[in-house]
Amino acid sequence: RTVYLNGNYCPVEDATISPFDRGFLFAHAAYEVTSVYDGRFIDLEGHLSRLRRTLEGISIPNPYSDEKWAEIHSDLVDRNGMEEGTVYLEVTAGDYGLRDFAGPETFTPTVFVYADARPLIGDLARDGIRAITLGDTRWKRRDMKTVQLLSQALAYRAARQEGAETAFMIEDGLVTEAASANAWIVDADGKLITRELSHAILPGITRAGIVSLLKKEGLEVVERAFTPEEAVSAKEVFTTSSGAIVAPVVAIDGKPVGDGRPGQVTRRVQRLYYEAMG
Ligand code: PDD
Repeated sequence: RTVYLNGNYCPVEDATISPFDRGFLFAHAAYEVTSVYDGRFIDLEGHLSRLRRTLEGISIPNPYSDEKWAEIHSDLVDRNGMEEGTVYLEVTAGDYGLRDFAGPETFTPTVFVYADARPLIGDLARDGIRAITLGDTRWKRRDMKTVQLLSQALAYRAARQEGAETAFMIEDGLVTEAASANAWIVDADGKLITRELSHAILPGITRAGIVSLLKKEGLEVVERAFTPEEAVSAKEVFTTSSGAIVAPVVAIDGKPVGDGRPGQVTRRVQRLYYEAMG
């Protein structure tokens, strides 16, 4: 496997970084995960503009132009012969040989990018996933895509322990989002509901694509927060992300959603988005 580290393409075995890297010591780093379908990128521009916003928010200079980022992404897909999967990029605040909280005036980033080949639309998209609910213990700026992922890692471990595949995170009695995806419900009238954008959630690139597709189709999208109780009794529930595209949620905390199988509206959203990707 060929990866990209700080200007060089190399075998993953040769890609090493300093233990003093601020990404390692402080989770001082931004990341993006972009879907690759049929050898093409899904809204790479959207991911790169979110990356710019995250980097600005955490004081790291953007090391490359969008053209250069796109070239690295394409090179990795080509060099690894990847048709379907994701490309992961991470930009950290770099290495200064010491553990100093504030760090230098200007950061010189560490850049790591790799291609992860796997089916995006697999068994889980067909059969659905089960979710647990738990408290959202993340920091307050979830609109920035940083590698502070301990809450999410622990949420996935808790889900697995309970025989589920994902977790819905709850704050002030409302669902913020899923552990690595935006959350949606379909109400009794067939209206699609997803939480409005704010600092509380990540502005998903897949979410944005689906909102605009649905509006084009004349389907009503309501952007508002919902409670876990509303989700359990909703007609349908699904999540959206670059890693799993549209994933039907068929159970929450052990209770079936609807009849416990992916619903018609979710299937329609999947079809619409897959068509737009293809
Ligand atoms: N996660 N919300 C959270 C907390 C996420 O981590 C993600 C993506 C999303 C969906 O965003 P997008 O549609 O832009 O992928 C929402 C990625 C896939 C990950 O961490 O692997």
